[in-house]
Amino acid sequence: MLILNKAAGVFSKPSRREIFEFLRSFNFRPGNVFLHKLVLGIETSCDDTAAAVVDETGNVLGEAIHSQTEVHLKTGGIVPPVAQQLHRENIQRIVQEALSISKVSPSELSAIATTVKPGLALSLGVGLSFSLQLVDQLKKPFIPIHHMEAHALTIRLLNKVEFPFLVLLISGGHCLLALVRGVSDFLLLGKSLDIAPGDMLDKVARRLSLIKHPECSTMSGGKAIEHLAKQGNKLHFDFKPPMQRAKNCDFSFTGLQHVIDKIITQKEKEEGIQKGQILSSAAHIAAAVQHTTACHIAKRTHRAILFCKQRDLLSQSNAVLVVSGGVASNLYIRKALEIVTNATQCTLLCPPPKLCTDNGIMIAWNGIERLRAGLGILHNTEGIRYEPKCPLGVDISKEVGEAAIKVPRLKMKI
Ligand code: KG4
Ligand code: ZN
Repeated sequence: MLILNKAAGVFSKPSRREIFEFLRSFNFRPGNVFLHKLVLGIETSCDDTAAAVVDETGNVLGEAIHSQTEVHLKTGGIVPPVAQQLHRENIQRIVQEALSISKVSPSELSAIATTVKPGLALSLGVGLSFSLQLVDQLKKPFIPIHHMEAHALTIRLLNKVEFPFLVLLISGGHCLLALVRGVSDFLLLGKSLDIAPGDMLDKVARRLSLIKHPECSTMSGGKAIEHLAKQGNKLHFDFKPPMQRAKNCDFSFTGLQHVIDKIITQKEKEEGIQKGQILSSAAHIAAAVQHTTACHIAKRTHRAILFCKQRDLLSQSNAVLVVSGGVASNLYIRKALEIVTNATQCTLLCPPPKLCTDNGIMIAWNGIERLRAGLGILHNTEGIRYEPKCPLGVDISKEVGEAAIKVPRLKMKI
């Protein structure tokens, strides 16, 4: 089929996406006739109940999400049985909503893809048992999804990013650097040895009682820190970036969190205020913790880029760094990473915030990627289990540490 390329005034071979968009402009829904692959994705690994229907060109036909953030903000963290109950209460409605918005009948689906690892056991269990019932009823193939792999591949739904590329996942529950070589081919370069940066920022925000701050009461901890940091001076406190001597790509945030805890206690004493009241220096603390976090993340990422280039695992001149996860929406941290990618001739790509955080679209898209590659499509779900703990890919972090790459100093003028 040929369509007229308006700009060039010539005939060119259209992509499948162009054909689809062309047909859609006439309100024509090709369904199964032209586009064989339609996947329903279901995500319940943590505190979001999410579902989406995505086609093989990356069109999101329908999506729905129920976030538990507000409930967990009140309890000061996720309480797994509460998360499980909320998933149970919402999953059917969310899946139905995604399907009805998509106008795809369940019989038209090519497969159902669901997060089965890693995540909170009680939360994963709800998504998996719901999906298995659906798979059984509809007699559809099932595609078990690794949550991190889905985060890492989301960018390919929006941009033409070829393998291999580097991915940095930073959120409340994740912190890792990996080389993505294929749909299910990952090399883990480094990860957090303790907590994730979002978790640390949430803890600092809680310790600072930012939920009581009039400008931050509805924000997640990380977002509240970013907001308040704009009003503070990052040089007011000098927090040292963690693991400066370890020449690997691992991360650590617990030490930094304890240092900040101590400073807050000391400042409370100095200002004569009780725990739970807001310090006058809260904005300076927010600015300093954000800066230190950004420098730590930037340095480990810089080393990962240099390691991959040194080993010819990434292109010397066309390498791509994808950054995703809730913390990736932090513009200060993105700027720090931009300084690194500019210095290393890499392209920095971040999915839009909605796709950085947990969602059903990334799960459905991972299902599409797996269908296209013919990887991990189950026609029999007997014995399928969820796995709360599951590493990503092949762990080469020891080799990265042994390479002991010295990272040139970059001016972090943000
Ligand atoms: O990806 P996500 O929605 O859930 C998982 O943790 O998997 O990420 C949520 C995390 C929270 O820790 C939150 O504080 C953090 O991302 N976050 C931010 C920002 N927005 C959300 N951290 C720093 N800056 C932000 N603007
Ligand atoms: Zn996630």
